[in-house]
Amino acid sequence: MSIRNVLVTGGAGYIGSHLVDGLVVRGYDVVVLDSLVSQVHRTGTWPSYVNAKARYVRGDVRDRDALQPLVLRADAVVHLAAAVSVGQSMYEVDRYVDINTRGTALLLDILVNQRHHVEKVIVASSIGVYGEGAYECGACGPQAPGLRPAAQLAARQWEHRCPRCDAELRPVPTPESKALYRDNIYSMTKHHQEEMVLLIGRTYGIPAVAPRFFNVYGPRQSLSNPYAGVAAIFVSRLLNDRQPVVFEDGGQLRDFVSIHDAVRCLALMLEKPGADFFPVNVGSGYTVTILEVARTLARLLGKSIEPLVTNRGRTFDIRHNTADITFARDRLGFTPTVPLEEGMAELIAWARTSPDGAVDLFDRALSELEQKGLLVQPTA
Ligand SMILES: NC(=O)c1ccc[n+]([C@@H]2O[C@H](COP(=O)([O-])OP(=O)(O)OC[C@H]3O[C@@H](n4cnc5c(N)ncnc54)[C@H](O)[C@@H]3O)[C@@H](O)[C@H]2O)c1
Ligand SMILES: [Zn+2]
Repeated sequence: MSIRNVLVTGGAGYIGSHLVDGLVVRGYDVVVLDSLVSQVHRTGTWPSYVNAKARYVRGDVRDRDALQPLVLRADAVVHLAAAVSVGQSMYEVDRYVDINTRGTALLLDILVNQRHHVEKVIVASSIGVYGEGAYECGACGPQAPGLRPAAQLAARQWEHRCPRCDAELRPVPTPESKALYRDNIYSMTKHHQEEMVLLIGRTYGIPAVAPRFFNVYGPRQSLSNPYAGVAAIFVSRLLNDRQPVVFEDGGQLRDFVSIHDAVRCLALMLEKPGADFFPVNVGSGYTVTILEVARTLARLLGKSIEPLVTNRGRTFDIRHNTADITFARDRLGFTPTVPLEEGMAELIAWARTSPDGAVDLFDRALSELEQKGLLVQPTA
């Protein structure tokens, strides 16, 4: 038994398209199922970077007639198709749950009830399942806080404090074992997807892995989708000579992992059994603030544009979350290879040539947040 035919749902998207290229290079036969949603694919047609050696089927993962025949021909399924914006999920609840949760439920229904030869299922999960990252209090030890209350955001007190001694908490890398808190609908659906796939995998003996992607950045990230991908949003603003908009004070810590490292990690999950039946952090292990990302991008673009620091919080935002990638290192031998500056330079080089770069729809997304009351009105 060995894997040869791989079905990649969402394979026309950002992570999916790079994965398709990576799998083709590794000699797999790849089939893509993608509905080409207009928010991601503005022209409604297959993107220019489709891989000539893969087969592309246009269809919706919620449509059994489209999905089932492809699953039954596959040795492995990498399920990436999803609606992907945290903010948007808070007012398009039905659409998010339907695509993400029910789409995955249909895939599992097929695997449970049809005769198939799928040997591995990989489902895209997210940093979002953690809510806040892991923290420590110098005096009281490890802490796993929930979202900051709106009153705290309104008072512009961005950092978490210890519930016992009120000291400021120190963020530490988040291991997979940290308690999970879902603070928005998107993350809830990612959690549904992850738990459902791992449960059915364990129950029926189908090796399953749930990569929890941190901030994956790189070429082909949608520049005109104002709802996803902060690095791409910043590049799009800068290319239009506008200030990148930074929420809070910009001191939020994140882990930005190059798309190439993310694809390498996915290939390891496909080929090695080490992470079977587990969720796995996919990050770089390197920590950076949002403000640093905005400044680095401006510098690499040669623009003297400072980020616009709003000093306003969004109700659904976490403060810090960075990846502890020990599990992926130990179980899969995963070692990230792309340094942040090099990866960001690659993102920029690509963005300069992308026709999408000229479209900046961020202001519209911002006013949607304001209208829905998701941008906290400061009191201090
Ligand atoms: N990019 C990141 O940093 C990141 C972080 C965490 C998790 N993820 C997860 O990784 C996966 C891929 O994300 P991405 O950044 O490549 O997003 P993307 O939007 O670029 O790609 C998603 C693809 O899925 C397709 N799609 C959407 N709904 C569909 C449906 N109902 N049927 C068929 N196809 C559909 C879209 O047309 C698109 O091509 C998603 O599941 C996302 O939740 C991504
Ligand atoms: Zn304490």
